[in-house]
Amino acid sequence: MGELHVIDHPLIQHKLSLMRNAKTGSKDFRELLREIAMLMGYELTRDLPLQDVEIDTPICHMTAKRLAGKKLAIVPILRAGLGMVEGLLSLIPAAKVGHIGLYRDPETHLPVEYYCKLPPDIGNRTVIVVDPMLATGGSASDALDKLKARGVTDVRLMCLVGAPEGIRKIQEAHPDVNIFLAAVDERLNEKAYIVPGLGDAGDRIFGTI
Ligand code: PRP
Ligand code: URA
Repeated sequence: MGELHVIDHPLIQHKLSLMRNAKTGSKDFRELLREIAMLMGYELTRDLPLQDVEIDTPICHMTAKRLAGKKLAIVPILRAGLGMVEGLLSLIPAAKVGHIGLYRDPETHLPVEYYCKLPPDIGNRTVIVVDPMLATGGSASDALDKLKARGVTDVRLMCLVGAPEGIRKIQEAHPDVNIFLAAVDERLNEKAYIVPGLGDAGDRIFGTI
């Protein structure tokens, strides 16, 4: 089973509480999401492999470290995942960005795909899938299926808030995928929204409420 990492750093918890508040407007919501994505990205990249490199400092020669291994790609699930891309890119500026467009059918709560554009060499990259909300897990699971069908073997999932149902779904359908969350919430309501959650992330980011 994939590992579940709950990154509950005090700064992340503080910013997440601000995002949860219904009074927080789109401008602040977007900014907080970008900041949390960057803070979570720091932990999510902790295990990236390093290799030795010989360099000369102004003082002497030394064996230093630089990133090794596969190149990275960030794949937001549209729309809300877009809000996490910039924060991650500020840490990993050379990463390529792919996009998977999914929306949840309001009746069935099942994801419907409407867009997919991925870097051609995605199968050779370490992929970070981003989406603030892991509710039923249907959208993230479908995105992971899509990536694996394109040859991706090394993929991790980064969300802000997860429901137990969504975590279970990913762990069962994608036992190879490590999940990174800022919080695990109580449950889903009858509309499959996360409780207490933060509402509809896409609508709050883009002001389409
Ligand atoms: C939200 C969210 C996830 C999905 C989570 O997107 O950003 O993609 O729902 O729900 P699930 O785990 O039950 O699949 P939504 O479908 O509302 O689209 P949007 O981002 O365009 O608003
Ligand atoms: N999508 C959201 O944006 N919020 C939820 O709580 C569930 C799905």
